[in-house]
Amino acid sequence: MHFDIFTLLPDVFRPYLNSSILKRAQENGHIDVNVHNIRDWTHDKHHVTDDNPYGGGGGMVMKPEPVFEAVEDVIGIPPACPIILMTPQGRPFTQDVANELAQHPRLALVCGRYEGLDERIRTHLVTDEISIGDYVLTGGELPALILVDALARLIPGVLGDENGAANDSHASGLLEGPHYTRPPEFRGWEVPAVLRSGDHGKVGQWRREQALLRTLERRPEMLEKTELSKKDREFLKKQGWQQKVVSE
Ligand code: ADE
Repeated sequence: MHFDIFTLLPDVFRPYLNSSILKRAQENGHIDVNVHNIRDWTHDKHHVTDDNPYGGGGGMVMKPEPVFEAVEDVIGIPPACPIILMTPQGRPFTQDVANELAQHPRLALVCGRYEGLDERIRTHLVTDEISIGDYVLTGGELPALILVDALARLIPGVLGDENGAANDSHASGLLEGPHYTRPPEFRGWEVPAVLRSGDHGKVGQWRREQALLRTLERRPEMLEKTELSKKDREFLKKQGWQQKVVSE
């Protein structure tokens, strides 16, 4: 999968992209990430990328010309792929959205800075807008990295284990249950005996129940949307779950 990132802060991307799993994903050709400095598409002596807002008021606004020129130069006209603006006004980023976006072989990510950007970028250049949560950051760089990270780990082979991302929290519609590693006892806290029993059937059932329990405790609304077996429902009812009656 190919990412083109358009930003005024190109240097912030490399340290994260060049570490650990994302580094390996690039070395193995699973992803490649091209970071473009929007400032390179300015034509004035001072490489100005922002200006005062029409109508007055505080804050600076990102100018449209360098953003349009950068994206059109790299992605082409008409655009060769979705052009996603990272903005707190976008549609919420969830695992479902990650799965949807991961179907594209190429994505362009535009990172806003300053107080805002010229509305014409939104209306005439970008094709999608994504928010990583209901809070406001100083720019779209961290959201873009989050998006690249979440999509990269969905590509088969990137995580390097056979199950890949299938068991992740959210991937199955449930939160994941607890994990343990050695030592079997740490400061008096023991690893559950079932995990050390070697009985794969029992371990599988325990993990399923722990995932159901954790989801019930922390995110009960997720249980209404996920596929549950009869056994799952019976277990949840014993834990005090009362399924909401969905009226259509
Ligand atoms: N830019 C600033 N805040 C953001 C957010 N919450 N999501 C995406 N882009 C942003």
